[in-house]
Parts: sequence; C-alpha cells; structure tokens
Amino acid sequence: MARPFNAIPLVKLPADYDRRTGAILAGFYEQHGPIFRTEAFGSPTIFLAGPEANRFVMTSNRLKFSHHVGWGRFFDTEFMFGNGLLTMDGDEHAQHRRMMNPAFTVNYMDRYLPIMMRIIRERVDAWLTVGEVDLYDEARKITFDVAAEALAGMAPGKEVEQFRDLYSALMYGNWSSITEIRTTLDSLLRKKIKERRANPTDDILGMMVRVQDEAGHHLSDEQIIAHTNILLVAGHETSTSLSAWLLYLLVTQPDYTARVMAEQQAVIGKHDDPTLDQIKNMKVLHYALQEAERLYPPVPNGPRGVVEDFEFEGYQVPAGVFALYSIIASHRNPRLFAEPDRFDPDRFAPPREEDKKTPYSLVGFGGGPRICLGINFAQVEIKALTSYILRTMELNLVPGQTIQQVYGATGFPLNGIRMKVRRR
Ligand code: HEM
Repeated sequence: MARPFNAIPLVKLPADYDRRTGAILAGFYEQHGPIFRTEAFGSPTIFLAGPEANRFVMTSNRLKFSHHVGWGRFFDTEFMFGNGLLTMDGDEHAQHRRMMNPAFTVNYMDRYLPIMMRIIRERVDAWLTVGEVDLYDEARKITFDVAAEALAGMAPGKEVEQFRDLYSALMYGNWSSITEIRTTLDSLLRKKIKERRANPTDDILGMMVRVQDEAGHHLSDEQIIAHTNILLVAGHETSTSLSAWLLYLLVTQPDYTARVMAEQQAVIGKHDDPTLDQIKNMKVLHYALQEAERLYPPVPNGPRGVVEDFEFEGYQVPAGVFALYSIIASHRNPRLFAEPDRFDPDRFAPPREEDKKTPYSLVGFGGGPRICLGINFAQVEIKALTSYILRTMELNLVPGQTIQQVYGATGFPLNGIRMKVRRR
C-alpha cells in the first residue's frame, strides 16, 4: 500500500538556499532519497531527485506532468513571454516541436556558425580596448546578438539593440511595467511578422510564418510572438551563464586548459575560424563544457504541475501539486559522480564515462522528448566562443572577487566574473 502524500519527508529550505542550491538539494537527496517535499513556495511542492526520478518525469511518466503549469505558472513565464514551446503541453506541443526540430539539428548549425563567429570576433576583439571585462556581461551581449540575428533574422545594430533593451527590461526590470513592455514588444514583433509574411525568409521567424498544419492553418501572430520570445530568451539567458562559468573554470584550471589548447592547435591550427566538423572534434573542450554544465547547471530544477495522480517510491502524489525535478541534486551526488565538487572533466572521457554509466544523471539540458531544443545551438556557440577566446586572448582573474553562483529560475554569477584581458 502506497503511503500518503503527507508521509513524504518534509524539508525546510534554509535562508541561503539560493546560494547553496546544489549542496542543499544533493544533501536532501542523500538524506531522504529521491522524493521529498517543501512548503517553502506557498503551495505543496515535491522535489524529485536522481536518475530514476529524472527518467520518470522526462520519459516514462511524462504526460502526468505539465510544462504549462510548471514553467508557465510556477515561474510565471507565460505572463512574461506568452505560451511558447516551453509552456505547451500534449499534442499541441508535439506538433510545434516537430515544426522547429529541423532548424536545431546539429548539422543545421552550419548555417548559424558564420553569424556566431562574426559576432564573437567583433565583440571579443573589442575587449582589448578596455583591458578588463566582466565575462558574464560580455557573454550576454554575444549570446543575445547571436540569437537575435541567427534565429529571428534581426538586423545588427539598431534593431538588435532595441530588442535587447526590451528583453532585458522584461527579465530584469520592474514587475509592474511588464504589461507595458509586452505591448511594445508585441507591436514590434507584429510588424516583423507582417514583413515576413510579405517577404518570407529562411530563418526561424520566416519558417514559422510559412508553416501550415494538415488542415492548411497557419500559426497565429500571437503564437509566433510567444515562440520568438521563448527562443530569444531561452536562447541566450542560459548560454550566457554557462559560457561565463566555463571560461572561469578554464582560467582557474591551467593544467586542463593546456590540454584544451593543445587540442585547439591540433584541430584548427592558430587563427582560422573553426568549421562545424572541427567544433564537433573538440573533445577535450567538450568534456570541460560538460563539467561546467554539471557543476553550474544554468537551470537547477525543472518545474512541472502534476496533472494526474501517481505513485513514486511508495508514496502517493496527487494531481494539483507542483513538482521540481532536480537537475543539480544528481549533478552533485557522489554515487553518480566521483568527488562531485571537484573539477574533473576526464570523468566524461573513456573509460570512466560517468554520465553514460547512469543514464539521466547529467541532465543540464533536461532529457527525453522535451530535452532542450537548443542543445546543439548552445554547445556549438559556447565551444566556438571559448575556442576563439582561448586562441586569441590571455585572461587573468581580477583578484579580490567573490565569485558566487546564485539561483532563481536560472543561475548566474552574482557579482559577475571579472577578467583582465591581453592579446595572446
Ligand atoms: C547552456 C544553454 C542551455 C541550457 C543549460 C538549457 C537548458 C534547458 C533545459 C534544462 C530545458 C528543459 C526544461 C524542462 O525539462 O523543464 C530546456 C528547454 C528548452 N530550451 Fe534550452 N537550454 C540552453 C540553451 C537553449 C538555447 C540556445 C535555446 C534556443 C535556441 C533553447 C531553447 C529551449 C526551448 C525552446 C526549450 C523547451 C523545449 C520543449 O519543451 O520542447 N535553450 N533548456
């Protein structure tokens, strides 16, 4: 007989939960097992932790969980951005995801790579004129430029700047001005959609304008706007954080970075832009990227609404509660990853391959049918960025900083990460 909901271990989230999220959730997972609950968020919420829980939420029982309730309401993303891919459920989601998938396969990244490289080169070269930069701020400029130009076909310069300011106000501005910002953003995007309907292009915005379902219906302006908002926000916010952390780890781990540099030399030589195949071959760099994903996952927990009763680990969970599947709790678990607090990218290389030994243990991009749409985009972009910076610049950490990840719905380095920059 399964035990009732109230028998699920109850945890209290300490005051410093946002700064020690990984240690705290990994600790609860060790202490209580893969399910525990909290009253910290005002309504009953369970945490589901570990590879079995991840598989349950992402694959085997995924239709019992709603993204619309999770991302849409728990984190209010629907109010901020509309109902885009991240907040859709069921058949509607499946249909829209099928439409977008082709533009996000790894080989399709060939199309975006030249845009990525041009932006990276321009932005990074400009660091030399100032000599000291905040990696987090700089990564954000680059990843937003890339998403706006590559995904929405925005023109560099004035147009990109205008949208950058609006999205930044939407995410970090005053909560009371959101409706006003949304109205401005909607009318600008409606104008762009109208232009695309008249002159279809082959970027994703153009594709969304053209696509029809079996009955010949097109997407509405409102749906296209919501998709665009999510693509642009999800398409830069998380990549910014992971880029900054990866660079920080490499700068502070010179032995491993020497191996990354040797690989760069072997794969592309000194000063040319890498091809997509070369980026795919940067394995030593890829393991470091996975290690940054493991240690500082930009999304710490995936939110869901439970929409059908279920049993897990001998407990009953009723429809109506919120669930957070914990990405970071698996990443910091010593049974899955040896010495989990240590930077050790070789854990991903053969013969150890810790992530492959236990599927659903490394889940920084989620998993199952709703794995991050932009995983290839993000990995190619972050590797291209890191490769260019390492080959052309010498970075040194500005002394005396407190470098600290802090988590809300996503994570970021609280005070940024400042580096001195010189030409290599
Ligand atoms: C380091 C960078 C990134 C990380 C760590 C990341 C992480 C994630 C995670 C964990 C999810 C799944 C959430 C869940 O299960 O509830 C997700 C979904 C999603 N991501 Fe990413 N993401 C990144 C970059 C991107 C980029 C570059 C794009 C777009 C170009 C993107 C677009 C999306 C979309 C649209 C979804 C929803 C997919 C669906 O529900 O079908 N992400 N991402």
